[in-house]
Amino acid sequence: MAIVKILVIPGSNRTGSFNVRLAAAITKELVLSEVDATRISLADFALPIYDGDLEAGQGVPQTAIDLKRMIGAHHGVVIVTPEYNASTPPLLKNAIDWVSRVRERGETSRVFQQRPFAIASASEGKFGGMRSLMALRQVLTLGCGATVIPQQMALSGADQAFDDMDRFKDERDTRSMQALVRGLIDVAQRMM
Ligand SMILES: Cc1cc2nc3c(=O)[nH]c(=O)nc-3n(C[C@H](O)[C@H](O)[C@H](O)COP(=O)(O)O)c2cc1C
Repeated sequence: MAIVKILVIPGSNRTGSFNVRLAAAITKELVLSEVDATRISLADFALPIYDGDLEAGQGVPQTAIDLKRMIGAHHGVVIVTPEYNASTPPLLKNAIDWVSRVRERGETSRVFQQRPFAIASASEGKFGGMRSLMALRQVLTLGCGATVIPQQMALSGADQAFDDMDRFKDERDTRSMQALVRGLIDVAQRMM
């Protein structure tokens, strides 16, 4: 069987981001699971706020097409999102909105429908960004028709969660991450 390729997308570009740190830990776990894992930054896919007039006048920005193709080059995707006011941050939602507008060879949302997604979040708060996961699951499943695996990870107390080697201090967080990674690889292999 071909090697599984997984894309990891953090929903924050902030210096010192807890979600980038969690995304890095997940990427490492994917590599240890013998997966070809790539972590990107949405800073490399800069997009204006979605604007229907801009789309009508100039078309979808090339960066949205590039991001869609990047997703399409992988068998599964992990999105690691912060929680802003009980939902997903605009950086991430805007990227998803633009990608959902890319039409290549007449296709619509196939890039979301042909591969599984796993979702994770990190927050200093005690819910670990759980409400952003609920919102993101709705966007991906109802909005984009994606398969989002049931395993998810909400890392609470994210400012205290890692040791100085960037491992989780709490074994339960390690187990939660491993279940997420195993679940995604399993579904990705079945959808390949
Ligand atoms: C506009 C805004 C709204 C926020 N709302 C929430 C929230 O509803 N729940 C929560 O746990 N944290 C909230 N936070 C705190 C973020 O979780 C925190 O800034 C986190 O570090 C952002 O993720 P990052 O470290 O990956 O950049 C909010 C932060 C901002 C800037």
